[in-house]
Amino acid sequence: MLFMRFSWIIEVFMKGMPTKFIILKNFLTLFIFFINPISVFCSIEKPDLKKGNELFELGDASRGIIACASCHGSEGNSSIPINPNLSGQSYEYLVKQLIEFQSKGEEGPIRSGINGEPTQMTIFVKLLSLKDIQDIAFYLSMQPLSNSSVSNCKETIELGAKIWRAGLPEKKVPACAACHSADGSGIPGQYPRLSGQFSNYLEEQLKFFRSGYRKNITMHIISDRMTDKDIKAVSDYAAGLR
Ligand code: HEC
Ligand code: HEC
Repeated sequence: MLFMRFSWIIEVFMKGMPTKFIILKNFLTLFIFFINPISVFCSIEKPDLKKGNELFELGDASRGIIACASCHGSEGNSSIPINPNLSGQSYEYLVKQLIEFQSKGEEGPIRSGINGEPTQMTIFVKLLSLKDIQDIAFYLSMQPLSNSSVSNCKETIELGAKIWRAGLPEKKVPACAACHSADGSGIPGQYPRLSGQFSNYLEEQLKFFRSGYRKNITMHIISDRMTDKDIKAVSDYAAGLR
């Protein structure tokens, strides 16, 4: 934006100048192009931990925002398995998800629920500004995971471990560990943490990726190659990882 505004000013300023000044114009434009990203970068405000904390734990009655903690638990440690744990998840991933629940014009949100219907989250993210999202994500990324889940299905643990560590080469399913890391803690900024998350939530998300209700090309290709049984087994295994 800033770059375009500066280029336009140069354009107007240079109008009617002799052609030899064109070199000067190009030089100026190039100069602004290189300093501009730096000036934009410097103007980014650091997320506010205190504001994120308040908004998540208490909501903001004046804006009709209810406390996120009422579903996701205090500090993002959920005790209700249908509501995912959010504590200790990476800042970048949380920001991306909250933006993707928001509707983008006619196309609808990138992340929706069953049959492409709104999820529980759709209504809550509508009220959040980008700054709110950044503050909350920053707060959550600093909270340790404490209400973590466990693996429940002894019968599928072997299949789950196999998919996690080695994938299913015959179906071209890659090892989950390759991206989500061996212990499931993910790679901040790139891949979310799955360890300690509730298995029914992971299973549901894999099915949403497969149906395209939640749009992500990498996870769609992977989940599309798995049966319901594979998905259940690997979700249960990932939930118990530490
Ligand atoms: C009524 C309960 C409820 C409330 C209130 C709520 N959430 Fe959620 N949240 C959910 C559910 C259920 C999901 C799973 C959504 C899905 O299946 O697509 C979810 C998913 C999420 C996710 C995605 C997690 C992941 O691992 O990808 C984030 C981030 C999130 N919520 C943040 C928030 C924030 C921030 C607030 C407050 C502004 C909030 N939630 C309020 C129920 C709730
Ligand atoms: C090539 C890298 C890659 C591999 C391999 C991979 N994933 Fe993912 N996974 C991702 C990315 C990237 C995301 C975040 C998608 C988004 O932004 O919505 C993700 C998200 C997920 C989520 C959603 C987490 C949440 O909190 O909502 C689940 C569940 C998941 N992956 C399971 C798996 C399983 C199980 C496997 C192995 C069968 C696997 N992934 C293999 C890259 C990968």
